[in-house]
Amino acid sequence: KKILILNGPNINMLGIREPGVYGSQSLANIEENLNTIAETLLLELTFFQSNHEGEIIDQIHKAFGNMNGILINPAAFTHYSYAIRDAISAVNIPTVEVHLSNIHQRESFRHQSVTAPVVIGQISGFGAYSYELGLRALHNKLIEKR
Ligand code: DQA
Repeated sequence: KKILILNGPNINMLGIREPGVYGSQSLANIEENLNTIAETLLLELTFFQSNHEGEIIDQIHKAFGNMNGILINPAAFTHYSYAIRDAISAVNIPTVEVHLSNIHQRESFRHQSVTAPVVIGQISGFGAYSYELGLRALHNKLIEKR
């Protein structure tokens, strides 16, 4: 099964960016760890990070017919991108949303996720481990669907 791992704005700065909030692992590090897990689950991962909303939407569209699942951290777009929400809805590919920080514990503008209603579920607050949990949860959904 093929999974698209999508990361939104400023996630390329992980490790440098507010380590107290987001941890010290870099995105490359997280991706490496996900690849290790993917081997055991027989998943093939494709990674994409962008600071541009439209590029993320383009990747979601490209996934249509090509990917079995999407794991996404829309980052700040989580809170206001109706366009990313609509793209996820449009392709109808099983999607899991992840966040490093617990968005409900932070500023009130982070409490709302406009993408959460169109994904299978959301994992928030476990740092880099949120991605691992998200990948395992997505895998579980995909095999249960077969
Ligand atoms: C984030 C939470 C968002 O509020 C923030 O804008 C991010 C990262 C997280 O992974 O905790 O960039 O999605």
